[in-house]
Amino acid sequence: NVDQWIMGIETSCDETAVAIIKNGREIAANIVASQIESHKRFGGVVPEIASRHHVEQITIVLEEALKQAGIQYDDLTAIAVTEGPGLVGALLVGVNAAKAVAFAHGIPLVGVHHIAGHIYANRLIAELQFPLIALVVSGGHTELVYMKEHGHFEVIGETRDDAAGEAYDKVARTLNLPYPGGPHIDRLAQEGEATIPLPRAWLEEGSYDFSFSGLKSAVINTVHNAEQRGEKIKPQELAASFQESVIDVLVTKTIKAASEYKVKQVLLAGGVAANKGLRTALEDKFKEIPNCELIIPPLALCTDNAAMIGAAGSIMFEKGIQSTMALNANPGLDI
Ligand code: KG4
Ligand code: ZN
Repeated sequence: NVDQWIMGIETSCDETAVAIIKNGREIAANIVASQIESHKRFGGVVPEIASRHHVEQITIVLEEALKQAGIQYDDLTAIAVTEGPGLVGALLVGVNAAKAVAFAHGIPLVGVHHIAGHIYANRLIAELQFPLIALVVSGGHTELVYMKEHGHFEVIGETRDDAAGEAYDKVARTLNLPYPGGPHIDRLAQEGEATIPLPRAWLEEGSYDFSFSGLKSAVINTVHNAEQRGEKIKPQELAASFQESVIDVLVTKTIKAASEYKVKQVLLAGGVAANKGLRTALEDKFKEIPNCELIIPPLALCTDNAAMIGAAGSIMFEKGIQSTMALNANPGLDI
């Protein structure tokens, strides 16, 4: 059998996901069982509930993925699984499932970093060209990652407090919008004008780091102050102003990094990459930049999924990277 079949498993947060990637780039199966409905009433992901759902779902999702791809365990070349970062109890379910399958069928095991997965989602739609920069924006991460070759990740900037998605979710909560709030703020922002002045945290000259907690507090204060005056802020205007501030900083720093590092490509990754405002702003800016290609995955590959873990695992496996049966969940794993 000359084809390479990689199974990807992702359980770091609130999606139980299994995918099968053929020859590194072709999605043969991509199953995502979302738990969002179970966490909604708590306004965020409850770790214990997440773990229990993963335990209930994992075998079903594994079988479904094999069925969709039309293969069996013994056809697999390797099994890639998210080892971290994430919720430890959630990660453990995926890691243990991967180890069980690898052991039972004698299949190589590859532990994958969740962010490497988000970045490699882009390889499912485009051939990566180095050097490149990836803007990773999710509920847990905001990072600018420089890559000079496959498997090499250099974090040149990261958030010092809240992740971009976290800020979206907290602002959404202030506006009484359901969890996860990102898509709701995005939608409201399209319907309003950015009329409310809000801060932008540029940080020190030359820094590629981010900070969103000041912006988040400014939004909360704006709402409370208005309430005290007996006024009501238009949610559309607040959403548009908040979104403009976030996008302004993300886009400006990404463009600056792209030109300083003279990259051939800029990749967008993570759940916040689904943001319409961010996608449009990047697309507009990149029209002015010659010789640098912007790649944005379709929405289903931006939010958590296992196809991205399979894609990253495929490259690692080709580079000879494998994990042993001692592989463990690592909630604070560095890239
Ligand atoms: O990558 P992801 O699915 O999970 C993590 O690894 O964190 O990202 C989830 C985050 C949530 O904070 C959610 O609100 C945000 O992505 N998100 C969005 C949009 N869609 C999802 N944020 C802004 N605009 C969106 N359209
Ligand atoms: Zn993620």
